Amino acid sequence: MPITFDKGTKIFTINTHSTTYQMMADSFGYLLHLYYGAKTQGFTDWTLTFADRGFSGNPYDAGKDRTYSLDALPQEFPAQGTGDYRSPLLVVRDSEGTYGADLRYSGHEIRDGKYSLSGLPAVYANPGEESQTLSITLTNKRLGLTAELLYGVIPGKDIITRSVIIRNNGNNPFTLEKLGSSCLDFTHGNFDAITFYGRHAMERNYQRQRLNHGSYSVGSRRGMSSHQYSPVMILADHDTTESHGRCWGMNFVYSGGFFAEAEYDQYNQTRITMGLSQEKFSYELSPGEEITGPEVIMTFSSEGLEKLSHNFHACIRENICRGKFRNSSRPVVLNTWEALYLDFDGKKILDVAESAKALGVDMLVLDDGWFMKRNTDSQALGDWTADESKLGCSLPELVRRVKAMGLDFGIWVEPEMISEDSELYRAHKDWAMTIPRENPVLGRNQLVLDLSRKDVREYIITAICEIIDAGISYFKWDYNRSISEMYSRSGSNGKLSYKYILGLYEILGRLTAKYPDVLIEGCAGGGGRFDAGMLFYTPQIWCSDNTDALDRMSIHYGTSFAFPMSVISAHVSTCPNHQTGRITPLKTRFTVSMTGAFGYELDPLKLNDDERLEISKQIQQYRIDREIITEGLYYRLNDLESDNYFAWEYISADGSKALINAVIPNNHGNNPPVYVTPKGLTPGTFYCDIDSGKIYPSDAIMDSGFPLEIPKGDYESFTFRLERISA
Ligand code: GLA
Repeated sequence: MPITFDKGTKIFTINTHSTTYQMMADSFGYLLHLYYGAKTQGFTDWTLTFADRGFSGNPYDAGKDRTYSLDALPQEFPAQGTGDYRSPLLVVRDSEGTYGADLRYSGHEIRDGKYSLSGLPAVYANPGEESQTLSITLTNKRLGLTAELLYGVIPGKDIITRSVIIRNNGNNPFTLEKLGSSCLDFTHGNFDAITFYGRHAMERNYQRQRLNHGSYSVGSRRGMSSHQYSPVMILADHDTTESHGRCWGMNFVYSGGFFAEAEYDQYNQTRITMGLSQEKFSYELSPGEEITGPEVIMTFSSEGLEKLSHNFHACIRENICRGKFRNSSRPVVLNTWEALYLDFDGKKILDVAESAKALGVDMLVLDDGWFMKRNTDSQALGDWTADESKLGCSLPELVRRVKAMGLDFGIWVEPEMISEDSELYRAHKDWAMTIPRENPVLGRNQLVLDLSRKDVREYIITAICEIIDAGISYFKWDYNRSISEMYSRSGSNGKLSYKYILGLYEILGRLTAKYPDVLIEGCAGGGGRFDAGMLFYTPQIWCSDNTDALDRMSIHYGTSFAFPMSVISAHVSTCPNHQTGRITPLKTRFTVSMTGAFGYELDPLKLNDDERLEISKQIQQYRIDREIITEGLYYRLNDLESDNYFAWEYISADGSKALINAVIPNNHGNNPPVYVTPKGLTPGTFYCDIDSGKIYPSDAIMDSGFPLEIPKGDYESFTFRLERISA
């Protein structure tokens, strides 16, 4: 059994295939964290130390024993007001304004199967896949507050999840001022924190830094998981590399504001925490009410960062993504955004579709600009009726004509938004989140709808159903601004940031249930909501509005630490690139974009014959490589901090085939050769490069690498397809 409880010591053990997690309800009822690391037998309570420590208080129950302090002991669910002055998961204020909640163990339950969460996305176990749930209840009698800590385990994937449900079982209301879902305390060690920062069109840049005394935190106050910081934190020993050393990861299954914090304390201990953003969060629970803290996916690797990534990849691909498109191959699309922007008519769309079909594309995605008066990006959001005069026909008719060419039809929507210049706003001003008697902050000239309102959610669902019923097979669900005014006319503004996201999940949940055959691509100005929460509903996400091949490589690199390639949507666009002005070879743009879900974002009518031929071949090649790309193991082959090239590899589960891509960004005079070192090949065998016919012994090539040709210009790319041949 993966989860066990020892009655004598009151130690809980969660075992996965290669990791162990342990905690203990001690004699005072405090739930102390003991261990999360390589799989072990026995108990790890010897990791605790006790000493008389000045200015670290002692719980009353400890009597004259000044060696017991929650300020120094590792905890599972630290709450403010208990003498632990590190960053807590829970801050609660009672109806008299008094802060603090002393939480003690009051019971637990171990059950088969992985828990799910009401209204929130969560990891699920597949039929026949081993999984268990541990529920531990902590209670504060004064408030009548219970915290049900949920631990889920998918042992075969080395995944442990955490979530928490706070309930008011008392007689008076209390208010949560902070709610985190997961805490990991380390009694010693020197760590680096790895996080992913960015901005619109340059998301998820890798950052690794040594933790020093104090606290390092990232997060989002934007009502969305954000372009600026990914809701992911990895802790690693200083000497941990891609393939060696210990590392721990937390990945938040939530699409709204969050915090992730790493604190190195006075006793050289480290605490990492993750949970809901405190910004504009003040959540009152009346007697009988409850709130669920979103799930955190945790994993540990003693074999470096690539194993940690593999664990996250498998979990998100197979235990977060759902439905028909989880494993099926995604269509090759032609998206009209960078091809036409808002400037098109029905004839142009049909011409583009015909030309795209001739290239071998599967689906035309009609991006922004197809609905009422949407001729600039400052109007019409909310009015989800096709502009028939622009399209030259009704939407169902346009879809019919495109489908008659043998192409599928996808469409862009941005349902959470409203333009001031829209029929919807004129009819329902109060649906927008604005503060009465204040001018709102505009983002891309638009406002955000209040998704905590049922009438708003129903409007959106009805509008989207009508669009889908026009024959749509795919839609791109966009979201193009951060939330600034957390104001709802329905009151409870301290709850709004959370209720907004619950509203979004309800809408997406109902739509995906009603239309299981429709593929949804998530998007938020590119990758502003690239998180495991969205991936529960949208099995792919437009990774960035930046389609420049060079920038995209670092965006994909950063994204790959916590997310699988199958969910990354990437398109070949035209040059000079619309975001950077850079000119890169068409081959390199393909090499970089064939990362996961693939397509084009250019006007095919403007291509010359050579380009058309090359693109047709690329699409045929992608179809051949698609399986290994979306289902194979992914390895980063370069170290971004020291190497002057990018290289990455996909390898099939049985190790028989490998696809290796490399790009040398800048050429220089008399360049030293670049060697690429593949990983994960079967030892003691030989591999054949199927294009050149060269044969490599697997052990030597994994040891010393093989040289790339000296490039003839900048941004040159190289692709190798290796197949295992008998030893
Ligand atoms: C966002 C998306 C783009 C495009 C535009 C349309 O910026 O990220 O891909 O769909 O909106 O307005």
